[in-house]
Amino acid sequence: MTDMIVEATVNGRRQRRPAEPFQRALDFLRDELNLTGTKEGCGAGECGSCSIFVDGVLVKSCLVPVAKIAGRQVDTVEGLARSGEMTAVQKAFHKAGASQCGYCIPGMVMAATAALRANPDADREEIKERLGGNICRCTGYQKIFDAVEMARDVLNGKLSASIFDEVDATDGKYIGVNVRRIDAPSKVTGALRYAGDMTMADMLHVQVLRSPHPHARIVALDVTAAERMPGVEAVITSADVPGQDGFGVFVHDQPVMARGKVRYVGEAVAAVAAESLADARRALAAIRVEYAPLPAVFDPEAAMAAGAPVLHDYAPDNLVKHIPIRKGDVEQGLRDAELIVEQTYETQPVEHAYLETEAGLAYVDHDGVVTVHSPSQNITHHRHMMARILNLPINKVRMIMSPVGGGFGGKEDMIYQGMLALLAMKSRRPVRLVFTREESIASTAKRHPSRTTYRMGLTRSGRILASQISIIYDGGAYGLSTEGVVRKGAILGGGPYNIPNIQIDTYGIYTNNTPSGAFRSFGSLQSQFATESHLDICAERLGLDPFELRLKNAMHTGDLTHTKQPLRSSSMSEVLEAARKVSRWESGVPNVRGAVRTDLGGEGARQPCTLTPRLSSENAEAPTARRGAA
Ligand code: FES
Ligand code: FES
Repeated sequence: MTDMIVEATVNGRRQRRPAEPFQRALDFLRDELNLTGTKEGCGAGECGSCSIFVDGVLVKSCLVPVAKIAGRQVDTVEGLARSGEMTAVQKAFHKAGASQCGYCIPGMVMAATAALRANPDADREEIKERLGGNICRCTGYQKIFDAVEMARDVLNGKLSASIFDEVDATDGKYIGVNVRRIDAPSKVTGALRYAGDMTMADMLHVQVLRSPHPHARIVALDVTAAERMPGVEAVITSADVPGQDGFGVFVHDQPVMARGKVRYVGEAVAAVAAESLADARRALAAIRVEYAPLPAVFDPEAAMAAGAPVLHDYAPDNLVKHIPIRKGDVEQGLRDAELIVEQTYETQPVEHAYLETEAGLAYVDHDGVVTVHSPSQNITHHRHMMARILNLPINKVRMIMSPVGGGFGGKEDMIYQGMLALLAMKSRRPVRLVFTREESIASTAKRHPSRTTYRMGLTRSGRILASQISIIYDGGAYGLSTEGVVRKGAILGGGPYNIPNIQIDTYGIYTNNTPSGAFRSFGSLQSQFATESHLDICAERLGLDPFELRLKNAMHTGDLTHTKQPLRSSSMSEVLEAARKVSRWESGVPNVRGAVRTDLGGEGARQPCTLTPRLSSENAEAPTARRGAA
């Protein structure tokens, strides 16, 4: 218990509540006052999703100790539309379609409100500057800036407020018509509840113990001391899994918690449900795990070599999947070529960085149905896996998709829902888990890193005769989406080019890295990066314009794809021509149309961003000279 009492005026109402000295203003608002419109994205002052006003000043509540709001006037997003009528900023966000997943939007609305209060005539550039402390992972920002300009013009009387209610005439059309998002009002007012905002009476808080080793045998795992600690209601390990312990998108090879050994740093080993987060964290420290470290492998090519450490007994060569594609005679094509270009391309793991970290709430309902709320992108598949893991009939398992605060493929994976269900069953109380940003980055799947080796044979005039391609995807410690990624990479590996002789081999490989998973483009981005980079290099070697090389080899209607499907239609050439025109390609690109780009800074060209890092005025001049000096 604490002796600290915080008194503040929050959204116009006097509040007097006990608080813990270590609490942030964000926790106080969310946990004590249930004002969950204020979101936590990063917890480190970087994203702006927790923005509030303190005495009218925009601040990030994750950086403010609760003591600092004592005696102050605090306003949250819920305070903006107190009368029940949305503000002009909120209406404009709705009208402009400026909310997608919506997780950043309460913070954006607060920052936009502050921007227009500070300068009611702010132009777009100033609006960008003033919103520079707020991150959105979904919108691309243009709609957000459109919304703030719209609100500004309505507030200034330059636009009629009736614009907020205008809708596109549909005329029976569905494509190309702006549709008002029915869920936008709840997003712009902060009323929408994501999984981490949900609470239930008697709810417990969950923390997870994670492996510090990339590869190790678990020699001993003792949770008895943790189970006896005050506030602890349940502790689980893999021994508590009653059914088939495995999940994944294509192969179900990942246990709910490490079983016998750990395969990556950050893998769940045990989980605790306790009365408070602090109790749960203390209990984690009391769990005793003895590890016997094993040799680890972090490079997929090394993992393919004979004698490499083996991660899974059922895959002695560490192979998740190999997809071979063959068309024509590659050796002959390479013999006929006048130029052979060989090159290797690599891509790195990429974090999804959705603003809403992974979160979930689970309970066993009055009919004995195990129920899990989580932002799942694959809810039916998760339900089937969960029934197998819990050894329950499907009608005793319910998965409810909560609003997804950004997913991008990363929330296809069922990572933590199994732990929540087991803890709810063991404690017979509702349980909630919300990942910290650090935990999200350390333990969840990333975009597959890749290494692509290209061998391409061409004629001097630029016709591609043969392509030999190997793509090795680092699948990390568990299969998750790797098989699908490997298939997509193989299908699209050669690019949209009509190549008579082609050989593609794609491999997904187990390593002791963080598991790789689905991420926008599902494996094709890696292969397309390699293909298009390779074509640029080939064009340079041939002395051809890169557009010409692509147009010469583009697929046309009737061509056979690499997987031998006839193309019923292809607009590749038209797309290339349109891109060439709108990019004003002929006006200059380095090393192709002269040494200096003449299109930069020209009419209609986008001006350079003036957001961070800000340059001092003397440094802001002569960027070309500075680059040269470096
Ligand atoms: S800035 Fe506070 S949660 Fe990101
Ligand atoms: S709408 Fe901004 S993070 Fe999704």
